Amino acid sequence: MLTLRRIGETRRFVAGLRRDGRRIALVPTMGNLHEGHLALARLARGHADTVIASLFVNPLQFGRGEDYGRYPRTLQRDLGLLEAEGVAAVFAPEVDEMYPVGQEGLTSVEVPGLSTVLEGAIRPGHFAGVATVVTKLFGIVTPDVAVFGEKDFQQLAVIRRLVRDLDLGVEIAAGPTVREPDGLALSSRNQYLSPTERQQAPALYRSLAAARRRLAAGDRSFAAIEQEAKTALAAAGFEPDYVAIRRATDLAPPQAGDEALVVLGAARLGSTRLIDNLRID
Ligand code: PAJ
Repeated sequence: MLTLRRIGETRRFVAGLRRDGRRIALVPTMGNLHEGHLALARLARGHADTVIASLFVNPLQFGRGEDYGRYPRTLQRDLGLLEAEGVAAVFAPEVDEMYPVGQEGLTSVEVPGLSTVLEGAIRPGHFAGVATVVTKLFGIVTPDVAVFGEKDFQQLAVIRRLVRDLDLGVEIAAGPTVREPDGLALSSRNQYLSPTERQQAPALYRSLAAARRRLAAGDRSFAAIEQEAKTALAAAGFEPDYVAIRRATDLAPPQAGDEALVVLGAARLGSTRLIDNLRID
């Protein structure tokens, strides 16, 4: 497996693959890999001949006071895990390689509407940071297909919209959320949890699952279902940011006849912020 630290060498590697007629999949990550990321790498193998992963903790998508500085960086371990999954190359640039002129005044990719609700309302600038780095990664790696997790459901919606609006010509594939046996969605941020918080954490999944059960049974009292989930979260020790039932396609508030729904939740447990979602089809 190749480790590529520079944009130029990555472009040359990709040009060689193209000459050989290879179909390329990209799996973008911020590293500190867990089974959720590795499941995406496996999914990518089913979509392409060659899988390239990226490992880059993107400063643009972290707000002031967020965890950019303490985000866990485990490059050597991550490289071993990706090699074992049959990944051909890892693009792992330094910040200066990605943003050589700094981050001020940089061209930014905005996906309005989708970027300003839910996560975007609480983390202003977050999705512009994600959309900008993903556009850059697509420009550098020029994948045929890129794979993202449903764990970050709004991110996936932002990226699908970005690719459509800018005709980026990259197919987007989505992998289901990988969970711990107690329901907690795998996340690099789970390791910030104290042992007590780790015991409380599955309440996020459980309250979304309770909402899903009501929706699946045909209950359409959206506001009451959201409120019940928030109350359950608070009772379990969380400070909820939001629980929202939305249309799965565009995250708009649902109408009574909408069938494809998603319930999304974000809540803080001590200093750790967790997000999760469940689809109702
Ligand atoms: P990161 O949080 O490292 O996640 C990388 C990919 O793994 C994303 O597509 C995310 O949705 C997926 N993922 C995370 N946890 C998962 C789980 N439990 N099950 C399935 N998939 C999971 O998301 C990012 O990085 C960044 O925003 C990025 C897209 C790389 C841009 O910087």
